[in-house]
Order: sequence, then structure tokens, then C-alpha cells
Amino acid sequence: MAKLLPVDPFDCVVLGATGDLALRKLMPALYHRWRDGQAPESSRIIGGSRTELTSEAYRTLVREKFEEFHSKEAIDEEAWAGFAERIFYAPVNLGEADGGWDKLGGLLDNDEAKRRVFYLALPPGLYGQVCANIVGAGLKTERTSIVLEKPIGSDLESAREINDAVGANFAEHQVFRIDHYLGKETVQNLLILRFANSLFEPVWNANAIDHVQITVAESIGSGGRAGYYDKSGALRDMVQNHLLQLLCLVAMEPPFDVAADTVRDEKIKVLRALRRMTPAMAKEASVRGQYTAGVADGKAVQSYEEELGRASDTETFVALKVFIDNWRWAGAPFYLRTGKRMSARRSEIVIQFKNVAHSIVGPDADRLRPTRLVIRLQPDEGMKLLLMTKEPGPGGLRLRYVPLNLSYAETFTERYPDAYERLLMAVVRGDLGLFMRRDEVEAAWTWVDGVLEAWSKDATDTFNYTAGSDGPAQSVLLLDRDGRRWFDKV
Ligand code: BG6
Repeated sequence: MAKLLPVDPFDCVVLGATGDLALRKLMPALYHRWRDGQAPESSRIIGGSRTELTSEAYRTLVREKFEEFHSKEAIDEEAWAGFAERIFYAPVNLGEADGGWDKLGGLLDNDEAKRRVFYLALPPGLYGQVCANIVGAGLKTERTSIVLEKPIGSDLESAREINDAVGANFAEHQVFRIDHYLGKETVQNLLILRFANSLFEPVWNANAIDHVQITVAESIGSGGRAGYYDKSGALRDMVQNHLLQLLCLVAMEPPFDVAADTVRDEKIKVLRALRRMTPAMAKEASVRGQYTAGVADGKAVQSYEEELGRASDTETFVALKVFIDNWRWAGAPFYLRTGKRMSARRSEIVIQFKNVAHSIVGPDADRLRPTRLVIRLQPDEGMKLLLMTKEPGPGGLRLRYVPLNLSYAETFTERYPDAYERLLMAVVRGDLGLFMRRDEVEAAWTWVDGVLEAWSKDATDTFNYTAGSDGPAQSVLLLDRDGRRWFDKV
């Protein structure tokens, strides 16, 4: 039976309460924590946004959206009734100091010892002002935390502005910057895999590892977010945060414990060691793509430009060859790839070890394939270690490449909390380990700004790829030039 870490009673204020994130992810996550008995009885959830609604109407909306995004069957009626009773709502004009904060404040518990969380499910441009308004309305207590959704800015400069504006009202230990990938089970397991097993660490370096591939492929398109997405693109939307966080966890030095700052200190060293992308490198080391019409998830789908309703150069796919300039990784590239409308939803890390030094099976060395560790983050979470084995039976030395297989679904049969459930409870516990520190976000932007600048100077093309494929052909060439290939079929 999963062990629930006790959390203190809390008031969780969700600002942007009628938005997609709040209704699709946050409310369901809070419901599940409530149903599993982790959220204490006296906890409350308070929604705030511009829309005029009563608490009753908001409860109905939360329920409707839960049924739309999840399933009615996932609801335990008794638990839902208890959960719904704890939901309240106040209309607030969030950007205004006198936007109705007093009404929202009136719904909060006066008990200063209670945890108070403000979740800003809002456009980042509002973060600074909203933080000032919370403080101005006297709603900040000693035990108040602020949760910021990504993206924190669209480049280093705007990220700094946001961090400064938030920092003017909240201390760093009160600020929880979400990268929801850090809440995923399999992502957390990277630390355990690497540092709770003695097998890997001695070979976890460029002496033994040929290269690393990190793929986050999605079959969905830009969805209803084309307005935001078109200003962002895959590099800012996915690489700056999720892929770089994965890269850090794979590449960092062993932290001496799992305290928040110990791990974050190690991750930031990796970000600082990333080789800056120069315009001269951009053509060889990066590929941008955009999907055209095709078939994804078995349905005919429009091109990105059709969804957007106009022409655009924004990349919906990016592949990069990245070097980490330190002793551990010198010479071993990390290939990163992410895209929308790809052939399937699949997030995976492939650690490809070097070929054996000498083939004992004679000149027919083609038969030997390199050892690979494939870490599947989603879906079908698990790990495969691909090894050469002798096929049993007569007929000479016949070799076969087979996986040692750890499937989460087969090994861990209980439901485990999803990323947002875990992250929300970590905020309430005040555990910063799963969140990004200010300097980490800024270091990631520093590197991404280099790529953006290289792209702008070099005017690299955005190549088309058909929706439902694995990206543009140039992404295959990125590895082919190095005598390598994406490892897509296990
Ligand atoms: C978000 C991006 O951060 O992550 C989205 O903004 C993307 O564009 C999403 O679809 C992917 O998350 P997940 O958990 O479905 O892999």
C-alpha cells in the first residue's frame, strides 16, 4: 500500500481558476489527494478569476470538466461530496490592486499557522503584478507559498524581470516554479536508478557511453493554444524546461543527498557546462520542423498553419545535438528531440553504450549491437536494458539482441499519484526539491537564448514534416552524419 506523507492543513488558492490548467489538471489532482485521504479535513480550495461565478456554480464547473477530461467512473461520489464542500470561489480582477481581493481574502482561514498556497495558473506577464496585489491585500502570511507555472518568460531578460518582480514580494524559499516533468514517477526514478544502484555509476560517462538520446514526442497538435504556442515554439515550450531538466538528471554529478539545494546545485553545473550554440554550429547541430496535414492518432489532421489560421515559421519540432563540456561527458553528444503531431506519444531516454572493443565472434561484427539502456518515461513506464545474448539451441553461435525488461505496470500495480498531485502536495509540505530555482531557470534561458540567436543569425530553415511522422528527414541526418541513428523501436 502506498505510504501517504502527512501534510499540514492548507488553503490552496488557484488563480486562473476557470482556465484549462486549473480545470484539467489542478482540480482533478486536488480531488485525488482528497479522495486518498492525504489532504486534511480542514483544507480548502479557493478559486479566483475574473469570471463572475458563485462558489456553487464553480463547483458545478469543476465537476463538469472533471467528467469531460477524465471519466465519471473515476469519481467516488462520497469523496467527491466532501471535496466539493471545500471548494469556494471569488471573482477577482487579478491584475488590479483593488480587483476584489478582499472578497477572496474573506474566504481564507485567519489561522496564520495554516499553509497558504497561491497557485498562479496565469500568463507569466501577470506574475509580478499578482504577487504585489496578494501582498498589498495583506494576504501573505509567514507560511504562504507561490506556485508559478512555466514558462517563466520567453528569454533570459524577461525571465529575470519576472523573477525580480516576484522576488520583490516573496523570498526564494516561498517560490515554487513548476516543471511538471519533475513530478513524474519515472523522472524521479532517474536519481534512484543512477545513485541507488552501484552498477551504473562507474560506466556513466563518455568513456563507456557513446551518446545519449532524449525524445519527448507528442501526437497532439498545438490544440486550442495556438496563440501562445506560436510565440513560443518547441524550443521554448519544451526544451528550455522539460528536456533540459531530463538532461540535467541524466548528466549531473552524484549529489551527496536529496535535499532540494544539493540536487539543484548539481543540476545547475550541467546547465552552465552546456556548449553554447554558435551560428556556425546551428546548421549542423539543430533542426527545426513544422507539421503539415496528415494522419495522427488515426485521424486526419490539419497542418499547423491551418490550425493557426495564418502562415508561420514557428517550430513544432526541434532536434538538437548538444555537448556538455566537462570531464564526465567530453566527446559524448546528447541528442534532444521533441515535437507535436508525431507518430505517437512517447518520452524516452536512451543511453547508448560504446561498441565492444573487439569482436570475439569473428569478422561478422555487424551482428553485435551496442548495449542500450532505454528509460521509458511515458506511456508504458519502465526500463529496458538491451543486451546481446546467444540464442539457445543448436545451429552455431546465433546472437540475439534482447531486453531485460522492467515494466512499471507489471511491477507496481497500484495507482500512483500523477505529477500534479505529487507537486501540489510537495508545495504544501514546503519541499522545494521538485521545483526550479531562480538561477536554474535563468541558466536554462541563457543557453536557449544562444540557440535562438544562432537561429536568427543563421536563418536556418524550418523543414516540413507530415503530421503523424517522426519529424523532418533532416532530423535523421543530424545523427546520420555522426554514423548514428535515433533508436525508435525497442
Ligand atoms: C507542457 C507544454 O509543458 O507540456 C505542452 O506546454 C505539452 O505543449 C505538455 O503538451 C506535455 O506534457 P505531458 O505531461 O503530456 O508530456
